[in-house]
Amino acid sequence: MSTPTMTLYHNSLSPFVRKVMVLLHETGQQDRVALQNCVLSPVDPDPSLINDNPLSKIPALRLADGNFIHDSRVILDYLDHQHVGNPLIPREGSARWRRLTLASMADGIMDAAVLTRYEVALRAPEKHWDAWLDGQRDKIRRALALLEAEAIAELTSHFDVAAISVACALGYLDLRHPDLAWREPNPQLAAWYFEVSQRPSMLATMPKV
Ligand code: BEZ
Repeated sequence: MSTPTMTLYHNSLSPFVRKVMVLLHETGQQDRVALQNCVLSPVDPDPSLINDNPLSKIPALRLADGNFIHDSRVILDYLDHQHVGNPLIPREGSARWRRLTLASMADGIMDAAVLTRYEVALRAPEKHWDAWLDGQRDKIRRALALLEAEAIAELTSHFDVAAISVACALGYLDLRHPDLAWREPNPQLAAWYFEVSQRPSMLATMPKV
C-alpha cells in the first residue's frame, strides 16, 4: 500500500467520477489517490472546489506537483499514462478513435441522464420542461440502441476506456432512471453488463446512496 500523492474530488454517485475510479482499480493505482468528497449541483457549487475548478465540476484531480486537471476524459488519459500495464486508451491507430468514440457515446448518455436527474430532482414539478426531458431520454434510447446493434463484440473484447464508460453509464441509469427499463430493448447489452458488473473494479465503485 503506497501513500496517496494525488487527490480526487469525488462523489460516488457521479458516473463521471466512477469512470476514473474504475480505471484506477483496473490499473492498480487506487492507493495513489486520496478522495475528497464533494457535494454539488449546478445551482450549488462546492466551495472546496471552485478555486481550482471554477466550473465546480467533478471529477477533478490534484496532482502530486500541485497542478490540477479536469475533466474525466483528461484525467483518464493522464492516469492511463501513469501505469506500466496495457493501456486502457489505445495510443494510436484506428482503435484509438473507435474506442474513444464509443466512450464519447457513453459520456453523452451520462450527460443526458445527469441533466435529466437535475431537471427532475432540483426543479419544481410545474417548471419541468417535458419536451426537453423527452429529448434527453430519446438521446439515451438511441445511443443504447446503437450500442446494442453495433458494439457488443467490441465491448466484450476489452474492458478498456470504451467498456468502462459504457458500464458506468448503465450503472447510472440503474441508479437514477430505473423507469427507462433499458434492459428490455437491449438484451445483449444487459447480458454484457451483467458480466462486467461483477468485476472487482465495478463492485468496489458501486454508488453509495
Ligand atoms: C447524482 O446524485 O445523481 C449526481 C451526483 C453528483 C454528480 C452527478 C450526479
